[in-house]
Amino acid sequence: MAAENRRVSESTVETVHIVRPNHLNSSGRLFGGILMQWIDEVGALAAKRHCRGNVTTVSVDNLHFIRGAYPGDDIIIKGKLTHVGNTSMEVKVDTYVEETNGEQTLINRAYLTEVALGHDDRPVRVPRLITETEEERQEWDKAVQRRELRKIQKAGGF
Ligand SMILES: CC(C)(COP(=O)(O)OP(=O)(O)OC[C@H]1O[C@@H](n2cnc3c(N)ncnc32)[C@H](O)[C@@H]1OP(=O)(O)O)[C@@H](O)C(=O)NCCC(=O)NCCS
Repeated sequence: MAAENRRVSESTVETVHIVRPNHLNSSGRLFGGILMQWIDEVGALAAKRHCRGNVTTVSVDNLHFIRGAYPGDDIIIKGKLTHVGNTSMEVKVDTYVEETNGEQTLINRAYLTEVALGHDDRPVRVPRLITETEEERQEWDKAVQRRELRKIQKAGGF
């Protein structure tokens, strides 16, 4: 599974949803649990595209609901890898509302850690990630910091 190195651009994901009545909470906004499902699906698909195998989500952090979404809104969700460890991959998932003029407003940002699983359902090594742009290299550096924070939190039982 881990034979090749792959570019960030090879595993990017973009999905589109329209906010419908069955997606709403009692306040008439997009229910956060529905958005989290869509985000999780994007994170997993980006990771699968990178490792070309099965994955599972082990953590979601820095999930920020920046603004609400409402019936009829067009929701665009974009996922891309920012970092790979030995068996884990970090995916940044940004969610936007797209206006009729094409302008996209960020409404949510989350970082998911996905782990590649082998046939025995245990973690397996993933391909290395090729960062090609300055932005991708900066994302990598910040992801390294987040990974350290996660380790501290896990060790502390948070
Ligand atoms: C994902 C899972 C297989 C990892 O098992 P594990 O015994 O912790 O395996 P490891 O300790 O070897 O960790 C594997 C990788 O996950 C990372 N990891 C483990 N716990 C983590 C956490 N809480 N946050 C972020 N990364 C974590 C490790 O750092 C390691 O990454 P690396 O190989 O890149 O260094 C296991 O925790 C699991 O099955 N969790 C449930 C996942 C699931 O069902 N998700 C769906 C939710 S319904």
